[in-house]
Amino acid sequence: MAENVRTDVAAGPASAGVAPADGTPRPVARRRPGRGSITLLVVLLLAVVAGAGAATIHARQSPAAGPPSGPPWSPTAAPTTGATPTGTGTGLRSLAPANLRIGSAMEMKLLDADPRFRDIFTTNFNALTAENAMKWRNLEPTRGGYNWTPSDQLVEFGQAHGQAVYGHTLVWHTAVPSWIDESWDTETIRDLLRNHVTTVVGRYRGKVWAWDVVNEVLDEQGGLRDTIWLRKLGPGYIADAFRWAHEADPNARLFINEYGTEGRTRKADGLFRLVRELRAVGVPVHGVGFQSHLRWDRTPDDTTGNLRRFADLGVSVAITELDVRITLPVTPEKLQRQERLYRHMLRACLTVPTCESFTVWGFSDATSWINTTYPDHGAACVFDADLEPKPAYDALVETLRERRGRVDVPSPGSG
Ligand code: XIL
Repeated sequence: MAENVRTDVAAGPASAGVAPADGTPRPVARRRPGRGSITLLVVLLLAVVAGAGAATIHARQSPAAGPPSGPPWSPTAAPTTGATPTGTGTGLRSLAPANLRIGSAMEMKLLDADPRFRDIFTTNFNALTAENAMKWRNLEPTRGGYNWTPSDQLVEFGQAHGQAVYGHTLVWHTAVPSWIDESWDTETIRDLLRNHVTTVVGRYRGKVWAWDVVNEVLDEQGGLRDTIWLRKLGPGYIADAFRWAHEADPNARLFINEYGTEGRTRKADGLFRLVRELRAVGVPVHGVGFQSHLRWDRTPDDTTGNLRRFADLGVSVAITELDVRITLPVTPEKLQRQERLYRHMLRACLTVPTCESFTVWGFSDATSWINTTYPDHGAACVFDADLEPKPAYDALVETLRERRGRVDVPSPGSG
């Protein structure tokens, strides 16, 4: 299937790219400036960054539930560490408002395999989510036998490149280690879960800015999903997981992450009720993550209004795993619909002041999980399989530029 995706996309207009409507050049996704122009670029960049920072203060107020307040490892922190993150000069991250992180899911093995891929990643993204490395099954393949290397490396990579690390995910029914036996008694299972949450969050205390504490805990009707955790521990496991995580790192932002809840669905209503109930009894839920694994031919209903009602509960919101899969073969029309959906999601996020991060689930059609998980689908990302930017990438650039354009122009009489 991956072969189909590659051929189709390369043959279509995906690799051609579209110049931004205002005629300004596209942020460089792959090319690097010549050495002679680096000094000039740095000076220009500093001026642009200073301007953008001032503008976004007016545009996006700090969320009540707590903004990405800039601990030392955060790309939004004041640059006091002296470290110069690489790859900040051009690309999506340089266009984003100061309190919005632009992220991608990532695996260390992808970064090690291809310098071009790595370059695009550091140029465009100031946040990363561990696509698989922090899932329980991978972290602790045998009881007490931890494999920290891939996740440690991702965290170090993020720190070295000015990328905030989003931890994914502490409690998820599909990543339960195979050595856990559901016939064990409730106390044993509870101790195991608590120990897992405490150990992982504690290890990355101060290094991971946010955690998906629980992932996909709802069924399609918006009720609690039937999982080992619900069966053994009852519904209280969700509140417990948040409390354990909060104890292990009081500064980490704690998210509940879900799919199929981007628009006004029954499931979204269930999520809304759950978050409201958790907050009402003081459970430290700081944010709601909307995975956003979308199809090219379906637009979520009233995404902005939906995000806003969650934000009104006092939590941050985040687009956590966006991709837009296309039923093969890829056509120019489908790429255009895909482009519109990427734009739709970013606009919604930019419209809600407490939308803290906008993350795509991988950026290359060559390596996306869609190719292997959804038969007959592919081409879900913003770069094609040859690492050329697609219309969807240009849509993100344009949308970020539009936003800056709006806030950069002072209104008459604003002083
Ligand atoms: C997926 C990864 O992308 C795949 O590589 C892996 O084989 C399975 O999991 N929702 C989630 C993510 O929360 O963890 C999933 O990631 C995609 C769906």
